[in-house]
Amino acid sequence: MTKVSRESGHVEARGVALAFGRRQIFRGLDCRFAEGRISVLMGGSGTGKSTLLRMIGGLQVPDEGSLQVAGQELVGLDEAQLKAVRGRLGMLFQNGALLDSMSVFENVALPLREHTHLSETEIAERVHGRLSAVGLSDIDELLPGELSGGMLRRAALARAIVMEPEILLCDEPFSGLDPPNVSRIEALLTHLNRDRGLTVIITSHHMATSLRMAHRILLLRNLGCVDGSPAQLASSRDSAIREFLGQDGAEYLAHHGHELEGAEG
Ligand SMILES: Nc1ncnc2c1ncn2[C@@H]1O[C@H](COP(=O)(O)OP(=O)(O)O)[C@@H](O)[C@H]1O
Ligand SMILES: [Mg+2]
Repeated sequence: MTKVSRESGHVEARGVALAFGRRQIFRGLDCRFAEGRISVLMGGSGTGKSTLLRMIGGLQVPDEGSLQVAGQELVGLDEAQLKAVRGRLGMLFQNGALLDSMSVFENVALPLREHTHLSETEIAERVHGRLSAVGLSDIDELLPGELSGGMLRRAALARAIVMEPEILLCDEPFSGLDPPNVSRIEALLTHLNRDRGLTVIITSHHMATSLRMAHRILLLRNLGCVDGSPAQLASSRDSAIREFLGQDGAEYLAHHGHELEGAEG
């Protein structure tokens, strides 16, 4: 895959507010997801992690504020314009698994058929390239129901990157996987970021994995968010933040505390 150009992978929310009925999820939310970096969105259950990811993906419109994604303001776009932006994002959503009645090949090929005019040969080349990038081969004709949970997640990841996105959004990419498969997905996401400069934004409950792979952690709380490097958050003076990071945070700090010296902020 080619390296993505600079500036197209940046995501920023300014003054975002959102309520579902009387339940306020965000108010005055300001946050940035740095281009070419891995950012992990964390926070207790129901704090709005999935909702924020859906807003970035143009699937949920905020009540107030601005959302810049890949150099474009999303607020105010019509459905056709949002669809065009979505075509530039890779999305791996929690229940956005593969379509059961379609083969693995056709599932991965789907975005290409929807958004491009590539020939069958070009489609096959891209699909096989992405499947092999996630360590899957010779499974073209299998149906999703015939794959293990780990293979399914990797096939969904292949589909999320088949359009060569600048930004990859993953909602709980590790959920429900056993430790070897968690490590595998972690390694794949880290490689995609390192080799291609892909901006990766994930939500996760897996504390140790998140601390290890994140350049930046964004912790949702009090309708807004606090952010920092893993070491910065693990050494926060705010005891609620340290408590949230727990034993994994303390262990991370014991090994990486020296990274704080000379770090900004
Ligand atoms: N489409 C929706 N309609 C009404 N309430 C919603 C909707 N989506 C999410 N919520 C509510 O918004 C809150 C945040 O949800 P979510 O973003 O899924 O949290 P998280 O991913 O952090 O667990 C929850 O209370 C959830 O019930
Ligand atoms: Mg969620």
